[in-house]
Amino acid sequence: MVYEPQEDSFLLKEFVSKYSRGAVLDMGTGSGIQAREASHSKRTTKVFAVDIDKQALNYAKKHSNGKRHKLIKWVHSDLFEKFSKKFNHSFDLIIFNAPYLPQERREREIALEGGKEGHEVIERFLSSAGRFLKPTGTILLVFSSQTPHMVDLIERYGFAGKEIGRRHIFFEDILVYELKKNPVIQGLEKLGVLDVEYFAKGKRGVIFTGVFKKKKVAIKLKRETSTAQNTVVHESNMLKELNRHGLGPTHLFNTQNALVYEFVQGTHFRDVIGSKSFSKVCKEIFRQCFELDLLHIDKKEMTRPYKHAIVKGNKVTLIDFERARKVLQAHNVTQFCQFMRSHTKDERWINIGREYARKRDKATFERIMGMI
Ligand SMILES: C[S@@+](CC[C@H](N)C(=O)[O-])C[C@H]1O[C@@H](n2cnc3c(N)ncnc32)[C@H](O)[C@@H]1O
Repeated sequence: MVYEPQEDSFLLKEFVSKYSRGAVLDMGTGSGIQAREASHSKRTTKVFAVDIDKQALNYAKKHSNGKRHKLIKWVHSDLFEKFSKKFNHSFDLIIFNAPYLPQERREREIALEGGKEGHEVIERFLSSAGRFLKPTGTILLVFSSQTPHMVDLIERYGFAGKEIGRRHIFFEDILVYELKKNPVIQGLEKLGVLDVEYFAKGKRGVIFTGVFKKKKVAIKLKRETSTAQNTVVHESNMLKELNRHGLGPTHLFNTQNALVYEFVQGTHFRDVIGSKSFSKVCKEIFRQCFELDLLHIDKKEMTRPYKHAIVKGNKVTLIDFERARKVLQAHNVTQFCQFMRSHTKDERWINIGREYARKRDKATFERIMGMI
């Protein structure tokens, strides 16, 4: 079914004429309405019009006979699938009036429905769009006020979003968003961090991965919604101190808003529980906790260390120091004793933990090691 231009198309078209310049990509071109509008701008040099639906492309092509329409190249593709590396960072403007309705029947209505909840095609689009957008480029994205997770997805895939258009239709608002690359990520690209991609989301930070000096790196950005102050600089300083003692992932560099450090490959501690290396790994975690105690650094979260250590062979790396603090008395060893107590249900872990908390000496620590 070729999508006949509707209210959302006309709303978007107004912005397309304002924003078009240089190389433009019209994703999900449908009838071709946006691609033609983009080609009419004197600032536009070429237009790629993409659709997964061949019938729509044939229709759009047939109705684009104007002189300026010669700028349009029609591409049959599922999102960016047919766009090779040579198109990396090459578009000034990417337009997408996306299918955003939730799917109603088994068969997806491709022009209208984005997947089970509605946001799925948009999510796939956002996960690749950054790669094809110039650092200073813009995305115009249309979705509905009913489309779930949008604010989250925009941040997660490294964009800063702004609502520029809204129209109320029946029970929903149609929204037009302008997306730019998150300026922090743009800054990192200038410093040589390439192929930045979303990795995971924490309470305060979002983690991306990237490539820096040919090595895979992790990048932690403060979440826009987090009110915690200076978290990135704090964790960077903490990591630098830990690195001097052979602890934590290697700090590479940081800015005010981004921390770039070694991407530690391996398995989360959680997945080592119950395996034959469990005891050995616990001993190593205890050893590092003891060292942290001596440094007066409270890592916190060692009662639930499931995602706080990465294990590869004999190497164990404690990660995630954003909540770590310098204190008079750190409680890493006692906290890990508490974890051992809840894991083994053995009360002796409570007693030895208490004794260690009182004495904080090597002899009690050695007895702890002997209990594993
Ligand atoms: C809501 S219509 C928008 C059509 C037109 N751009 C407009 O503004 O009127 C969405 C279009 O996206 C296309 N589409 C859906 N999924 C797609 C995908 N994975 N890759 C490319 N195009 C897709 C549909 O075929 C449809 O033509």
